[in-house]
Parts: sequence; C-alpha cells; structure tokens
Amino acid sequence: MNLNSGNVTWQHSKLTRQDRQRRNGHPSCVLWFTGLPGSGKSTLAFALEKELESRKMASYVLDGDNIRHGLGRDLGFSEADRAENIRRVGEVSKLFVDAGLIALSAFISPSEADRRKVRELFPNGDFIEVYVKCSLKECEKRDPKGLYKKAREGRITSFTGIDAGYDVPVNPELVLDTESLSVDEAVAVLIGYLDKRGGLRAE
Ligand code: ADX
Repeated sequence: MNLNSGNVTWQHSKLTRQDRQRRNGHPSCVLWFTGLPGSGKSTLAFALEKELESRKMASYVLDGDNIRHGLGRDLGFSEADRAENIRRVGEVSKLFVDAGLIALSAFISPSEADRRKVRELFPNGDFIEVYVKCSLKECEKRDPKGLYKKAREGRITSFTGIDAGYDVPVNPELVLDTESLSVDEAVAVLIGYLDKRGGLRAE
C-alpha cells in the first residue's frame, strides 16, 4: 500500500554509497539472520558485531526484540503484522547499507515470501541470508526467555515453532548449525564468508 499519491520525490544526497564505503574502508551489505526463537540469531549477530568492531568495521545489529520496543511497537505476531515488521526492517536495512554499514538483521522472519521481498530490495549479492539452524527440541530446551514454556501452557499464542509456522530457508547463502558450532566457530564462518566476497576491511 502506498498512500503518498505520488506527491513525494526522492531527494538526492551529495554522497553516494561508494563514498561512504570508501570512508569506512569496507563494502556494506546485510547479513540477515533467520531462525526459530532461541536458535541463536541475536547471540551470533552481537558476537559478529563485536568481532567487526575489533577489525574497525562499521556494523549495527537490528534485533527483533529491540526493534519491537520502538519502530515495531504497534505490531504483534499475526502473519500480517510479522510481514509488516519484516518490510519495515528490510527497508531500514537498505538504508543502513546505503549508509555504508554492515547491517546485522536478526529476525525470526518465518515467511519465505517476506524474506524474498527483502532480498529483492538489494543488488545481487548484498543480501546474505544466514539460516541459524537449530532443532525445535533444542530451542525449546534452551528457552532463554521462557517463552516456549508460556506457549506450551497456552499463555502466548501464535508462537513460532509451537502454533505458528517457520519456513526453512530454501537457498540461504549460509547455514550455521548452532547445535554443532560454538559461537566463536560460527563467527569464524561468517568472517570467512565476508573475506571471500572481499567484504573485510583492507588493513
Ligand atoms: S518476526 O516473526 O516478526 O520476525 P521478531 O524477530 O521481530 O519476529 O521478534 C521475535 C521476538 O519476539 C522473539 O525473540 C520473542 O522474544 C518475542 N516474541 C513474543 N511473542 C512471540 C511470538 N508469538 N512468536 C515469536 N516471538 C515472540
């Protein structure tokens, strides 16, 4: 839906994404972490942010719970609200990439169709889908926020993995199995991926 009736015009900056990337010393992109609640998305995104900082690279974590405190505070967990949540954070991620940052976007983003729409916002290769793989059994065992327990008790409804679905990514750029990889090992895989695509800061 577009309510602006065509009466808005794109305003051009005097800087380009290339200018900002040059200033930062590395290319920008989005790493999109998707997976079940408790799979490790936020943990990996924040660990990678720290590692990138030590390499003097500019990144920022957009985290599902955090975003829902502000930008998404009017949204719940129906399919329509999740679609709107993902649309908004997809657009924010696009702005971050234009700003020359490495956006680390960590959202359950259960719908393959919604994730595809976000992918389509980016030039080829700039959207890196990272499937944070972990069995429902293990996620439920971890239950870091006690939400699986609440969902099983019927105190939360539409909870992903219990009474709301999750589309396993069809063709993600990376799969990180957090049942077999440590956080450090997973971060090393992510750094290796960025390195291979020429995405690390040249020292
Ligand atoms: S998404 O489905 O729209 O991508 P998002 O990643 O923003 O979800 O938010 C997920 C976070 O909201 C979870 O980490 C969890 O803490 C919290 N949450 C609260 N209710 C639910 C629910 N019904 N389903 C999933 N997560 C929920």
